[in-house]
Amino acid sequence: VSAGRSAGDGQFPAGGLVLGLETSCDESAAAVVAGGRTLLGQAIASQVATHHQFGGVVPEVASRKHLETILGVVEAALKEAGVALGDLAGVAVTYGPGLVGSLLVGVSTAKALALAKGLPLIGVNHLEAHVYANFLNEPELKPPLVCLTVSGGHTALLHLPQHGRYLLLGRTRDDAAGEALDKVARVLGLGYPGGPALERLAEGGDPAAVPLPRGLGGEETLDFSFSGLKTAALSYWNSVRQREGTVPPAVARNLAASLQWAVVDILAGQAVAAAERAGVRTLLLSGGVAANGALRAEVRRRGEASGLSVHFPPLSLCTDNAAMVACAGYFRLRRGERAGLDLNAVPNLPLDAEE
Ligand code: KG4
Ligand code: ZN
Repeated sequence: VSAGRSAGDGQFPAGGLVLGLETSCDESAAAVVAGGRTLLGQAIASQVATHHQFGGVVPEVASRKHLETILGVVEAALKEAGVALGDLAGVAVTYGPGLVGSLLVGVSTAKALALAKGLPLIGVNHLEAHVYANFLNEPELKPPLVCLTVSGGHTALLHLPQHGRYLLLGRTRDDAAGEALDKVARVLGLGYPGGPALERLAEGGDPAAVPLPRGLGGEETLDFSFSGLKTAALSYWNSVRQREGTVPPAVARNLAASLQWAVVDILAGQAVAAAERAGVRTLLLSGGVAANGALRAEVRRRGEASGLSVHFPPLSLCTDNAAMVACAGYFRLRRGERAGLDLNAVPNLPLDAEE
């Protein structure tokens, strides 16, 4: 029995309640979703404050925190949903990619619950789950589609020809978009996470003020590169500071606006190109950076100009959560897929594991 891929025994009920668990990075999250579309209850324990003092996620600390919080998070999600464990029809859990110790907490918890309650279990790829954040409360949405998932850890273009199948069309060759924004924001003294702070700073700035490179812009690829852009933004900042001793607020605003626009320009261009190349009419956004207003507006503008139907999850479901895991798991369970109790964490789970 291989993780998440074995044939099932029994039909999974159409409106069945799935408990989703997500612990791949620094959020311990649980959610109950009905019929793969309706979020009944969720709880998220963020470790941002814990890791803030170290300037990044410390894997050892993260897994210990997950262990401390996961059961309380499950209880809180069930309570908000107004259901008991006995009402569930299945359990879905992120089994990769991510931090191995963190993933193991979710996977072990999911296996224990499935065993104790005799529930079908399913393992979900974290990137696939991000795509499914769009399906919650959107009853008419269905594959084939392309989704741009863009966060602090990932920048990936996935093509879903049908439920449970996905192909990786492009990904970053270096920094994730959110990672590049966070690194520049740190040098600008904006704190972590930097994306939202940069977006606020960009508001009064001129996006054309600072010329910045577009990474792989000229190449025939759907991949991304953000490290050159990041370095150019940082050298601009450093050169102004060296020259003038300090960086005037207007210059900081212009740099933030120019950097945000460069990232948005790259992401929107590649997303629309990917949808066209895959021959789909539906384009989705997901991941933490999908909370960015300029990105949402530009993907909508360019997508609709190309005749695409463009969708984003609500802000609360852009970042890591368990509702998207429950939703992705539901569609796999409906297809008859089941994981065995040998389901294991796979830290480097490929993004295009499905043909
Ligand atoms: O999905 P997420 O919560 O966690 C992972 O990285 O997996 O994404 C967090 C990332 C951070 O890099 C953060 O700076 C970025 O999403 N982010 C934003 C905005 N809100 C969050 N980036 C740009 N604009 C935003 N409004
Ligand atoms: Zn994520």
